Amino acid sequence: MSRKFYITTPIYYVNDVPHIGHAYTTIAADVLARYHRLAGDAVFFLTGTDEHGQKVEKAALERGLTPKAHADLLTVNFQKLWKKLEITNDAFIRTTDREHISVVQELLQKLYDKGEIERRTYEGWYCTPDERFWTEKEIVDNKCPDCGRPVERITEDNYFFLMSKYQDRLVKHIEDHPAYIRPESRRNEVLGFLKSQKLGDLCISRPKARLSWGIELPFDRDFVTYVWFDALVNYFSATRYLSPAAEGSSEASKREAFWWPADHHLVGKDILTTHSVYWSTMLMALGLPLPGNIFAHGWWTRDGKKMSKSIGNVIDPNEVADAHGVDSFRYFVLREVPFGLDGDFSIETFTTRFNTELANDLGNLLSRVVTMINKYFDGKIPPASENQPFDKELRETAALMATKVDEDLSALAFTRYIQDVWTLVTRANRYVEENAPWTLAKNKDLDRLGAVLYNLSESLRLIALYLYPVMPSTSQKIWDALGIDKKIAECRMDTEQPWGKLAIGVAIQPGAQLFPRIDKQKNRETKMDMPAEEKKQPAAQPAPTGLEPIGIEDFMKVDLRVGKIISAERVEKSEKLVKLKVDIGTEIPRQVVAGIGKSYTPEELIGKSIVIVANLKPAKLMGIESQGMLLAASNGDLLAVATFDRETKAGSRVK
Ligand code: MSP
Repeated sequence: MSRKFYITTPIYYVNDVPHIGHAYTTIAADVLARYHRLAGDAVFFLTGTDEHGQKVEKAALERGLTPKAHADLLTVNFQKLWKKLEITNDAFIRTTDREHISVVQELLQKLYDKGEIERRTYEGWYCTPDERFWTEKEIVDNKCPDCGRPVERITEDNYFFLMSKYQDRLVKHIEDHPAYIRPESRRNEVLGFLKSQKLGDLCISRPKARLSWGIELPFDRDFVTYVWFDALVNYFSATRYLSPAAEGSSEASKREAFWWPADHHLVGKDILTTHSVYWSTMLMALGLPLPGNIFAHGWWTRDGKKMSKSIGNVIDPNEVADAHGVDSFRYFVLREVPFGLDGDFSIETFTTRFNTELANDLGNLLSRVVTMINKYFDGKIPPASENQPFDKELRETAALMATKVDEDLSALAFTRYIQDVWTLVTRANRYVEENAPWTLAKNKDLDRLGAVLYNLSESLRLIALYLYPVMPSTSQKIWDALGIDKKIAECRMDTEQPWGKLAIGVAIQPGAQLFPRIDKQKNRETKMDMPAEEKKQPAAQPAPTGLEPIGIEDFMKVDLRVGKIISAERVEKSEKLVKLKVDIGTEIPRQVVAGIGKSYTPEELIGKSIVIVANLKPAKLMGIESQGMLLAASNGDLLAVATFDRETKAGSRVK
């Protein structure tokens, strides 16, 4: 029976395009998944997107799309990026998946039936953009202490998960399982918080009148569940319908039993509380086993500054990978910063690491070895005929590396892992100097030269094997160059590990240089090291929407018409939605449901000439059919509907 290894990343909100933070966790998870596959484990690597809740609803509304249509578009950005970065996730979960929704409802019902969820009246200050309540003490001048926007006094009934009663059990679990929360500093933070403060109960519902974009509570259809309850369950629900078959069986319960609990949840430090407190207590209440480990990594800054869309300094992984290759990006993020600490990305440090470690240390080592094998051994791997002290040292370094790296990855110490592989890279480079193969060649000592080149090739074979989880393409290129006719992805670590597996007499297949040095000029041309301000201008065009540029022919596919609003009324139980009848020049007016109820009264709208997307497929909003969409701009929380500055005829085309 194989050992199972189940690893997850957070599921990313579809309110934004992917950035280095998303790529970081996903690359780290990929390295672990690849390593465990090489070790022969049964691996399940899950990532995905978080698609419900206010943030996504708001982003969709700003774009004039239904939340689902918006999510369908944005989720593709993540899927495409993972493909580009050679991420080998076994599944991609979307919280709008039918199967996921049904598991969330099943678990909610189970908790409700067990008395773990209770209805209560709650009164507090609510910050709509942040989707959270604040207490009287927390607010500052009637404003949200977090984002500074005005808060509203809200009294409403809600459902609460009785989280507080699990406080002691959670403390005990963390204390009894030292590896449960990592790194140590974060574990201490969580323990410190749990021991010094009384844990409250968790409000896990939102009245539909305030937020409709969520999973309905199975026991009260007037509410949807809080987005975090929905999101956290993804790790569990996926085992039922997205996991690989478990030991030959694809039956949901068998798969759940085989894969659950996860071995690692990788998360950023900002979402550690939701995972270590909410998720752990939810699992306790459900009677489900807790994950093996929750690892919180640090945050990336850019040139020492926080990344933000408005400054325009967000690192787009696509851009770095296109300019300098996928593997060097994967290498850099894991090599630069010990997992768990904050890190800084600057193109200067990236370039330095690239040129010294990748181009010089590794790339040159390979090219020197293959060049000499070509020149002196007719392009065939020469025999290893001797055993001298330096040879022994080289072999010992390789053996030591093999024992260390396993420990490194068990501790998720990616930086140390790479450093340990580098001990062999460095040792091999020193071996070149010690043996001076060019002198051996000059002296026609072909026996010794052959042995030296064999040992170096063998070192490179092992370096590539261990680097494979971090730099999959580069490693395969090294094997290809050495004439090894195997895919590393299909190999087993234990079979490939022994020294001396490289076949003698095989023809090498030198390829292009692994890492052509980066010159500063090239960085400038790709705009990668420009100051953020300079860069902002040209990048700004496609960036704000996150969508790809389109040609005029695509734009003309959208049938925009002048519409005259002939009636307007509020949709019952919704603060936002307004039902409009709009004359677009056809016999029967169009019914359009628009999310502008917080910005306009129905009376204000009647008589306005607006822009309608007339060929949009009908959609249902709170059960009411909408046969089109109006254009509006968001102006903070206030929306402004697009109108005309001259009299226009209903039904005229807008181009
Ligand atoms: N949807 C939730 C997660 C639900 S998991 C059940 C979410 N999504 S997110 O898209 O906003 O963020 C996802 C991850 O990106 C988080 O782990 C967060 O820490 C990480 N990062 C966001 N900015 C980051 C940096 N600047 N640096 C490193 N990681 C960062 O939260």
